[in-house]
Amino acid sequence: MHGKSQRKEMECSVLSDPRNAALIVRLHFHDCFIQGCDGSILLDDTYTLKGEKKAATNIHSLKGFEVIDKIKNFVESECPGIVSCADILTIAARDAVILVGGPYWDVPVGRKDSVTASFELANTNLPTPDESLVSIIPKFFYQGLSVTDMVALVGSHTIGMARCQNFRSRIYGDYESTSVKNPISDNQLNNLKSICPPIGGGDNNITAMDYVTPNLFDNSFYQLLLQGEGVLNSDQEMYSSVFGIQTRELVKKYAADSLAFFQQFSDSMVKMGNITNSESFVTGEVRKNCRFVNT
Ligand code: HEM
Repeated sequence: MHGKSQRKEMECSVLSDPRNAALIVRLHFHDCFIQGCDGSILLDDTYTLKGEKKAATNIHSLKGFEVIDKIKNFVESECPGIVSCADILTIAARDAVILVGGPYWDVPVGRKDSVTASFELANTNLPTPDESLVSIIPKFFYQGLSVTDMVALVGSHTIGMARCQNFRSRIYGDYESTSVKNPISDNQLNNLKSICPPIGGGDNNITAMDYVTPNLFDNSFYQLLLQGEGVLNSDQEMYSSVFGIQTRELVKKYAADSLAFFQQFSDSMVKMGNITNSESFVTGEVRKNCRFVNT
C-alpha cells in the first residue's frame, strides 16, 4: 500500500518539475557513497551532528530534500515506523527513473537509517568533475563497484543540470579539441560560454548535461560523449582519456544499444543501493523525520 502512495507522490513531483527526478537520483548516489545507503545525506546539521549537506560537492548543489520529506510524511501517516528514509530514497530514485522514461528494477528493502553522518567522508569519497578518471575509478572500487558500474551509473547525467562552476574548466579547456567540428557543436559551445562566463561570476548558472533530451532518461548522453560534447570533464574523459580504454568501449556500447544501457543501469543501481553501512545495520533506526535522528 505505501509503495503505491510513495509512487504517486513522486509522480506529482516529477510532473510538476522533471528536474526533481534528477535531484532524487543524485541524492541517492550521494547517500550510498558515504557510509552506505543509510539516509545519512538527509540529516540536517545540529549542535551535536555535523551533516553532509555542506560538504564541497553538496553545498549549493544537492537538492530535493523537500520531495523526500513529503513522501516520508505520506508513508508515515499510512504505516508509521516501518519504512526507513534510506529505503524511501532508494525507491524514490527508482520511481524517478521510470517517470522520465528509464528502466524499472526491483528494489531490495530493509535498510536502516543511520544515527550519524560524515562530513569528512562526504568530502573525500565523492568524485568531482575535474578529477581524472584514474582517481575516480578507485572511488567506485572502494564502494564495491566496477568500471562497468561506473560508466552505466554516470549515464544518469542523461537527466539533470550542472552549474557553471562545475563545467567552466571544461568549456574553456579541451571542449573545442574533443568536439566534432560542425555548426551545431560550435553553437552549443557558444551557448555554454554565454551561460558560463570565464570570469566574473555566474557560478550557479545551470545547463542540462544532455542538451538533446534533457528531461528524458535515454542513451543520448553517451552519444554526446562520442561527439566530444560532454559538459563535465569527468564525463568526457570516459570517452576521450588515454587511460579510458575500457570506459571508451562501454560508452560506445551504450551509445549504440539503449537496451544494454538500461539493463546494466538497473543492475548497477541495485548494486549501488545495496552498499551497506554495517554500523547502522546494528545501531540504525527508522527515523520519524528524515532530517533528524530520533530522540
Ligand atoms: C564519475 C562520477 C561523477 C561525477 C564526477 C559527477 C559529478 C556531477 C556534477 C558536478 C554534477 C552537477 C552538480 C552541480 O553543478 O550542482 C552532477 C549532477 C548529477 N549527477 Fe553526477 N557525477 C558522477 C556520478 C554520478 C552518478 C553515479 C549518479 C547517479 C547514479 C549521478 C547522478 C547525477 C544527476 C542525476 C545529476 C543532476 C542533478 C541536478 O539536476 O541537480 N552522478 N554530477
